[in-house]
Amino acid sequence: MHDVLIIGSGVIGMSIARHLSHTHLDIAIVDRDIPGKHASYKAGGMLGAQNEFTEDSDLFRLALESRDLFPELCQSLQDETGIDIQYQASGLIKIANQPSDVDHLRAQYQFLHALDHNVVALSDNDLADLTNGNVSAADMAIYIPNDGQINANRYTKALFKSLQQRHITRYFNTDVTGIHRQNGYYQIASSKGDLYAKKVIVAGGAWSSQLLKQYQLPREVVGVKGEVLLVEHDDLHLDQTLFMTNGCYVVPKQPNRYLIGATSEFDNYSVGNTTQGISWLKHYATARIPELANARVLKQWSGVRPYTEGELPIMDQIDDGLYVITGHYRNGILLSPVIGRDIANWLLTGVKPAQYESFNVSRRLNHEMYH
Ligand code: GLY
Repeated sequence: MHDVLIIGSGVIGMSIARHLSHTHLDIAIVDRDIPGKHASYKAGGMLGAQNEFTEDSDLFRLALESRDLFPELCQSLQDETGIDIQYQASGLIKIANQPSDVDHLRAQYQFLHALDHNVVALSDNDLADLTNGNVSAADMAIYIPNDGQINANRYTKALFKSLQQRHITRYFNTDVTGIHRQNGYYQIASSKGDLYAKKVIVAGGAWSSQLLKQYQLPREVVGVKGEVLLVEHDDLHLDQTLFMTNGCYVVPKQPNRYLIGATSEFDNYSVGNTTQGISWLKHYATARIPELANARVLKQWSGVRPYTEGELPIMDQIDDGLYVITGHYRNGILLSPVIGRDIANWLLTGVKPAQYESFNVSRRLNHEMYH
């Protein structure tokens, strides 16, 4: 009998496990695949705590707090595992892709600038200066210097190695088929037989609703597939992440590499790339950074983000000792440090952090929350 069983070994599940590992509790983590296959490993690694938000909310505040945890987390993972997650506080440039996006970007700029004067609007000359002339002029561009990035693949591997060193039981290639409450504990039916735990955390990303189908959650999680391309260019020097309002982005990676993301295909759980997806990425990336047309393609891949209506995560206790922590959509990497800390504390103290009331599964969304 485990004290805590976490279903899902993406960054959210692993971050919670890592925070719980300081205790005497028997912790286990179960995943239907082997490590390395899903969204966490495939992510762009942007820490877009300001880029992704257009209004104040509990989620925005959590995102800012989580972004600030990365420098220390980077050091601690390096010390513990020897893996450098390549944290870079190199800033992000957000660009209106077409004239009709300008009003929305201006409103976001006003919101961000009022809270942080380091966020500035860029003239065409400023944009050219900041990017060594590599980025073409836009209808509007803003600079968010404090949004950083990490290497998500390395981050996920570092968390995994850290858990290996912390005596956490891991079950891989193990499909969970049912979660049943017994007298004071849970029986988890799986493809490898039954598992037992006093508390269960479902952190199954885009597959969380499916894992909880007998509970019929009032808010569902839907998979949104994203395709990504990694290219290399020896003579292109760009430090900042470039994010366009149509969702195409270019994240500089070490050494001389550029990760180009990401398409968004609603309710698509498939794996692999498509000709249309890759053409879309190349088209928008080279339209804004023409020199990328001369880059070598190194790899391409895809992942499935866990979307919820209103883009509001679900972080709730839906039965005695059964927690659902999912729906982080475009921000799972960014939010994982703060969520790992807060959910572990919630479990250990029994006290739900006040701001997490915003993420109740029964939360009804009003119309203004839809984008
Ligand atoms: N956070 C970037 C994406 O979801 O594509």
